[in-house]
Amino acid sequence: MSATWAWRTEQRTARLGRRSRCRNGRWGRVRKPRGRSALQKCRRHPRASSWIELRIKLSRPSLGPSLARPGPPLEAHMDNLQEFRDPVNYDLEELPGSADRIAFMCRRALRVAGPALDLGCGTGIVALPLAVMGLSVTGLDLSDAMVAHARHKAATLGVKASFSVQDMRCFDLQRTFRFITLTGHAFQALLTQSDQSMLLHAVARHLDDEGEFVFETRNPAGTDLASSAEEEPWFAYVNASGSEVQVSGTQSYDRTRQVLTWTTSRRWSTDGGPTLHRSDIACRFTEVQELDALLNAAGLRVKERYGAWDGRPFTSASEEIITVCERVRGPSVEVCATPPT
Ligand SMILES: C[S@@+](CC[C@H](N)C(=O)[O-])C[C@H]1O[C@@H](n2cnc3c(N)ncnc32)[C@H](O)[C@@H]1O
Repeated sequence: MSATWAWRTEQRTARLGRRSRCRNGRWGRVRKPRGRSALQKCRRHPRASSWIELRIKLSRPSLGPSLARPGPPLEAHMDNLQEFRDPVNYDLEELPGSADRIAFMCRRALRVAGPALDLGCGTGIVALPLAVMGLSVTGLDLSDAMVAHARHKAATLGVKASFSVQDMRCFDLQRTFRFITLTGHAFQALLTQSDQSMLLHAVARHLDDEGEFVFETRNPAGTDLASSAEEEPWFAYVNASGSEVQVSGTQSYDRTRQVLTWTTSRRWSTDGGPTLHRSDIACRFTEVQELDALLNAAGLRVKERYGAWDGRPFTSASEEIITVCERVRGPSVEVCATPPT
């Protein structure tokens, strides 16, 4: 998820000599894609004059046949959205560490210009600065609460941006974008290789031929993945009610699933006495080689890669894997070679 991650990591690394922790999503309802499926559309495609040509069109990511498939089950994700039930305090925790990340995304988006899509947009920490710069922006997130707050902030700022509540693994916006971003480590909210693959295929279908997809995921090799049951202090901030909140937590890593679960404790005092709130969040850690295989399989090619938001090149010890991708152009030979049935 977040830039705050970078901020927290720095603070924690300095204080504790350890690195880790993040937060992820609250899973709300999924709206079914409206209209005809991509497959139905392709069958009626006016320029699909033969089966072979139709198959070529079907093989293009922007018309990918998986739009016609039902979405993956949501139940497994419901618990992983606990950290996103309080968007106002989410912003208070996340915004202070987000400046470098926002600046990076703004530079990239301005370079390619054109419509931008922010996947897992949350409260619009990145989507709204892009809209303020004059780009046409769509934010997509599964959390009703986060999207409602993003809409409220857009109205308060007086900027135009549209938001959609959908599951990023199977979203369908019926159009393409010049710039697609997925940041705040939202990629890691997808806890299986198959979910991450579905997301990347959906991205490829929505990316312009000249477009860029920019996202980050924490580098497993640059992260302390050791399980630790002993609670450690992480950081403190002042919440929306003016109380100082002490944030601490534990972590537990499942090597087989490549999933790290953080349990966060937030403690603050009110007139009624001390309050403790606990929540869990799980994040998948993807090795760079696995990531590249997933990108290739989705028809995306790595253009540039960085290890930090200041533009440092990626090394095996980097904390972040920041990847800039473009779509591989042209139809897939494999599908074209399939005989018509
Ligand atoms: C840490 S937040 C990042 C928000 C924003 N990108 C930022 O940088 O602040 C992760 C976001 O991903 C969203 N999310 C998690 N799983 C999702 C899914 N399957 N589809 C869409 N959004 C999802 C969560 O609701 C949450 O808002």
